Amino acid sequence: MEQLKVFAPATVANLSCGFDVLGCCLDSVGDEMFIKKNDLNEIRITKVTGQSLPMEADQNVAGVAVKSLLKELDSNQGFDIEISKKIKPGSGIGSSAASSAGAVFAVNKILGEPFNPHQLISFAMQGELLASGNAHADNVAPAILGGFSLVRSYCPLEVLSLPVPEELRVVVLHPMIEIKTKDSRSIIKQNVSLKSAINQWGNLGALVSALYTEDYELLGRSLQDEIVEPVRSILIPYFQDLDELVTEKGALGFGISGSGPSVYALCKGDENAHKVKDAMETFYSDKNIDFDLHLSAINKHGVKIL
Ligand code: HSE
Repeated sequence: MEQLKVFAPATVANLSCGFDVLGCCLDSVGDEMFIKKNDLNEIRITKVTGQSLPMEADQNVAGVAVKSLLKELDSNQGFDIEISKKIKPGSGIGSSAASSAGAVFAVNKILGEPFNPHQLISFAMQGELLASGNAHADNVAPAILGGFSLVRSYCPLEVLSLPVPEELRVVVLHPMIEIKTKDSRSIIKQNVSLKSAINQWGNLGALVSALYTEDYELLGRSLQDEIVEPVRSILIPYFQDLDELVTEKGALGFGISGSGPSVYALCKGDENAHKVKDAMETFYSDKNIDFDLHLSAINKHGVKIL
């Protein structure tokens, strides 16, 4: 195999109670990437459409992720990477993670799969390190593995896949303001009170249980974050109003998607998800802020070959 075209999905990280350890994969939004071998012993970003991204491989998350994979193999194989960017950088739905995950997935396939999907996560994390100054896995893991991913440990890296309740839907509203992950990480407090930690790990444990038992109500109750959300939500226009609105419309829960500015609502079933999406659209329409809205099922497969 010399070349491959892949779909690299968007993801929602944190899911409120799981800062840096929990994320899920979307199936209605994602980038397309075309990767092919070259004879130049060089990683080249040959084309980017849709958004403006660095064309130097060392400054591009896809380039950095692929280089880290090749380094592990001690390979000097060259690749050309084309990215059709559909996920806006700084949107909070794993834009850099999609590029990193799609690139390492495709290169690994072309090379005959020397690595398993779990091993690919650590290479894609190098892209996150470049993008945000921190090698978190809560976007790249679900982008590669699909479904829900839980990072039990970063050192050594151990990522678990969690079950996906069939009727779960995600509505994402992306207000078109850019919040860089690096910036929104810098405002988080570095110390957590024991009381907050107790509440947070209670919710995270309950969320895992809810996914296993398909207990949608428990899932909704678990989507609480008293550590990061109070600080970051200040940057998101109408965050509290949206929270109240989607709760009134019957969403299971609501919070910040990744580092924002996107917000997400989890819903049970298509009918409720459409109701929540329509309400968000009506509410935001007269706010003089451009926005995108996505309604998605949970993508169980992650990056896929096109
Ligand atoms: N866990 C990361 C953060 C995800 O919240 O900073 C970034 O998308």
